[in-house]
Amino acid sequence: MSRLKVGVLVSGRGSNLGAILDRSLAGDIDVEVAVVLSDVEDAAALDRARSAGVPALHIPPGRFRTKLEPDAERRYVETLREHGVEVVALAGFMRILHDEFLEAFPRAVVNIHPSLLPSFPGLDVQRKAIAHGVKWSGATVHFVDTGVDSGPIILQAAVPVLDEDTPETLAARILIEEHRIYPEALQLLAARRLRVDGRRVLVDADTESDS
Ligand code: GRF
Repeated sequence: MSRLKVGVLVSGRGSNLGAILDRSLAGDIDVEVAVVLSDVEDAAALDRARSAGVPALHIPPGRFRTKLEPDAERRYVETLREHGVEVVALAGFMRILHDEFLEAFPRAVVNIHPSLLPSFPGLDVQRKAIAHGVKWSGATVHFVDTGVDSGPIILQAAVPVLDEDTPETLAARILIEEHRIYPEALQLLAARRLRVDGRRVLVDADTESDS
């Protein structure tokens, strides 16, 4: 099977990118990280990609705070295409993408979010989960649509919220699951095992596995 070419968009430390690269370089998943793009010039994630030998570029986002300027968005799409990207994985990318971007990669943009969606979309979600008093939180990988953290859910993993948790301790527990399920979701895409039926993402049986 040919490897799925994934472009990863980042803004920060890049631990999810690192988890994807580790699994990819180990040959555990049929995924090749073709390029990493960042809106933040000194994002640690760019160094992480470069030290793994993956092309990593900073593309300035333009003057907006939460989205990309149209010209910038076009440059992101062009650069992803130049690198043969089939699936775009957002990994801590802090900007909302427009329809034009999503239309350039139909049903092929995914995101990881540190809560059990649809609870707690948006930012600062570990603090919100603790403040709300939920007993379980977790991580969600989902397709990206035009809303905020609202697209069809591919995989989720739950973790307990403990009485003594701070946003940091809860985030660390969730992050362990993020690093597990994000590469797993990309492998499901690589193996063409996902079918979207309305809001539901159905996982076809694994016909390639030896086990
Ligand atoms: C992760 O918690 C992810 O769920 C959220 O942003 C954070 C990115 O962390 N979207 P990292 O850059 O992958 O370490």
